[in-house]
Parts: sequence; structure tokens; C-alpha cells
Amino acid sequence: MSPQSAKKQPVKKKRTIKKATTKRAAAKRRAATPENNAKPKLYASLVVQLLSLLKGEHDFIANAANFSALLFNSLPNVNWAGFYFLQGDELVLGPFQGNPACVRIPMGKGVCGVAAQQCETIIVPNVHEFPGHIACDVASNSEIVVPLFDGERLLGVLDLDSPTIGRFDDQDAEGLNELVTVFVAHEEGLGL
Ligand code: SME
Repeated sequence: MSPQSAKKQPVKKKRTIKKATTKRAAAKRRAATPENNAKPKLYASLVVQLLSLLKGEHDFIANAANFSALLFNSLPNVNWAGFYFLQGDELVLGPFQGNPACVRIPMGKGVCGVAAQQCETIIVPNVHEFPGHIACDVASNSEIVVPLFDGERLLGVLDLDSPTIGRFDDQDAEGLNELVTVFVAHEEGLGL
């Protein structure tokens, strides 16, 4: 990533979660959330594991690569997990796990470009219903994209795909936002 290249990009408006969803999917998420603390527990354990992976390591690419590997191998039903970093007015592929993916995504294009432009987490229960979705892996049916910020500066996005329709919910959004906050806080300490 080239942090300098991101300096003139849109600033963070507020941390929000947008759901491109159907009423049925929203009801299902609400019904599943109250008694189910499995996901929060999993994400809490991933925070501990991420901190352990980051500890003492100062290489940004290595840390991003290990972060994506941790997510890919720990979260069930995920077929792609990785980063796109902002360079100028486009997102460029960073460390990831999964099939080879498109390298450059213009701001405002695809789920990643929209999440980056709007500075908000986007949950897509069915990517085939998202206008302008960029299909990198034909196996992907749902997706979540979480923007990364260094203070007010947009750094890029974390992108996860799943072959399962409706795989990602608000608990994933909260857990992933916490993880990227931990990740960026560590990198900020390195003078990113
Ligand atoms: N589906 C994304 C493109 C990246 S891949 O999923 C890895 C999008 O629409 O932005």
C-alpha cells in the first residue's frame, strides 16, 4: 500500500453498516441474533489471535497477509478474505486468501468501491442482487466489505466472500470492524 497516495481521498463520514438486503433476510438476522453468542465469542477469540500475530511485527504486508489468513481459516463458509488498498482514486488488491481476484476496483464500483466511497460497512446477502457487483469468484454468493480508516483517512477495505447466501450479519460486521480497528491501531503505532 502507498499511504501517501490516499491523502486526498474521501474522509470518513461515520462508521455505519449498510445492508443491501431483503425483508426476509433482515427478519432472519434479527431472529438469530439475541440468543446466539457463538459469533461474538469467535470474534473475541480472533481479536486475541490477531494481537498475538501482530505482536512485535512491523511489516505491514506481512501483517495484512496473516490477518487475511486468520480470517480465511477461522471463519466458516468463507471462500475469499482479503484487502483492497486505496491508491489514488482506485482500490488495488492487497494480501488475501482465496482464488485470484480482480486487481483494480474504481471508487464507487462493485461492493468494495461502494463501501469505500460511502465509508461504511456493506453486507450483501445475495451478490447477484447487488447492482454492479464485481464477480471475482463464481462460487461467491454473499459478501461483506468493511472500510479501514487511519483516523479520518480511508486506507482501503477488508472484503470477505461466502458461497452461502446470507452468510454475513450484523454480528460479523461488528466483529470485523473490531478486528480492523485492532489491525489499524497496531499499524498506526508503526507510523503508517
Ligand atoms: N465482489 C467484489 C470484488 C472483489 S472480490 O469479491 C474478491 C466487489 O463487487 O467489489
